[in-house]
Amino acid sequence: MNFQKICVIGLGYIGLPTASTFAAHGINVLGVDITPHIIETLNKGEIHIHEPGLHEAVQNAIQSGNFKAALNPAEADAFIIAVPTPFKENETGEYNGAKYKLADMRAVISAAESIVPFLKKGNLVVLESTSPPRTTADLVAPILERSGLKAGVDFHLAYSPERVLPGQIMRELIENARVIGGVTPESAQAGRDLYATFVKGQIIETDATTAEMVKLMENTYRDVNIAIANEFSRLADKFGVDVWEAISIASLHPRVKILSPGPGVGGHCISVDPWFFVEAAPELTPLIYHSRQVNDSQPHFVVDLIERALENLSGKKIAALGLAYKPDVDDLRESPANEVVHLLQHKGAQVKAWEPFKPDANLPGITMASSLEECIKDADAIVLLVKHTEFINLNPEEITKKTKAKIVIDTVNGFNDEVWRTEGFTIYKLGNGKSFILHPS
Ligand SMILES: NC(=O)c1ccc[n+]([C@@H]2O[C@H](COP(=O)([O-])OP(=O)(O)OC[C@H]3O[C@@H](n4cnc5c(N)ncnc54)[C@H](O)[C@@H]3O)[C@@H](O)[C@H]2O)c1
Repeated sequence: MNFQKICVIGLGYIGLPTASTFAAHGINVLGVDITPHIIETLNKGEIHIHEPGLHEAVQNAIQSGNFKAALNPAEADAFIIAVPTPFKENETGEYNGAKYKLADMRAVISAAESIVPFLKKGNLVVLESTSPPRTTADLVAPILERSGLKAGVDFHLAYSPERVLPGQIMRELIENARVIGGVTPESAQAGRDLYATFVKGQIIETDATTAEMVKLMENTYRDVNIAIANEFSRLADKFGVDVWEAISIASLHPRVKILSPGPGVGGHCISVDPWFFVEAAPELTPLIYHSRQVNDSQPHFVVDLIERALENLSGKKIAALGLAYKPDVDDLRESPANEVVHLLQHKGAQVKAWEPFKPDANLPGITMASSLEECIKDADAIVLLVKHTEFINLNPEEITKKTKAKIVIDTVNGFNDEVWRTEGFTIYKLGNGKSFILHPS
């Protein structure tokens, strides 16, 4: 199939890099978003999110005349849907007394509805949003068929999940393997023709539901494996063992690769996607359910650790380093660091947070510092919550001159204990039960 013009619906972390990459490969792209501010920003050649290489890509796309942003779709050869699929904030499901989260598919529904007036015979529609199993066939196809055209007969319909790593999106979009699941083999083939415009990695064709399941399996696999790493951190704490040392030794086993514990699991994918399986089949997913419970409760374990280190949280001034959900990104969604700050405050601590990737973030109930210096100056303790490169490169010799704090709690294994101790800091580390043997409270 030949594509002259495409429409990308949803211009966030996934849609915008995708749209600008298609434009860079000579395709005429109309980017669509419901947020007027995003449309204005993009049409000026500016961007509203942080992702290395994206600003330049958008500027080039605008200047080439291949990219324009608008509030509404228009006729095109192909439509790509890349809108959010979070979980519902105020509604849960229940199975045998256990509550589980529910997918909020409103954005996918309205994006599909917005395509209907412009859908023509021979078009291709691709859903990229991470979605519960059978969404393409059971939710998106019936909406698009309101056009009077039949999915897989009059137009092609496919599901192609995105697997890029924030921070590396522009490169991974091109180099990663891509799965394309069609509602018919012809739809998968049409999807291959579209993405072959720029994808250099392997393109695998399958059916739509398999492709949906592949994406959810990838993130669920990681969530379950992080949950066991988090449980190991709790066990190591109890038994006076350094979990980081134990993990590095255990991982020498040729068939063992243990992931890293941390303050919890956040972001828009790993902490959300496993719930899509639980919602779809709660009777079949006890392991997935309990892994979510372990990872969601890890911020509580971290706050307990901080409380033990400081003896009492009431009135303590704490400098929280990092609010992003993972290192070196500005994405604060579902961040466990955020939850740690709230829990600390709930226990009476006065917390100031410093997030170098989003210093002006406006998060309800969180006091942001405008610099690292301001964050740590009057603190009683420094808590490292995100392994940003600039944090792990901090020089404790310099830090000691800028803060009253003598206690450091490292929840991500970002600091070298010995070096910080040499500068007079007492350092506690998540999962290192030896910290408390060295510094009994
Ligand atoms: N961010 C990631 O790293 C990542 C990785 C893999 C998969 N995903 C999945 O990709 C999808 C998109 O995620 P994202 O991170 O790009 O989200 P995002 O929030 O960064 O961007 C989504 C954009 O869609 C817009 N939008 C919402 N409803 C719309 C509608 N009806 N019409 C037009 N625009 C609409 C929003 O205004 C927003 O700008 C989600 O399903 C997510 O789970 C994300």
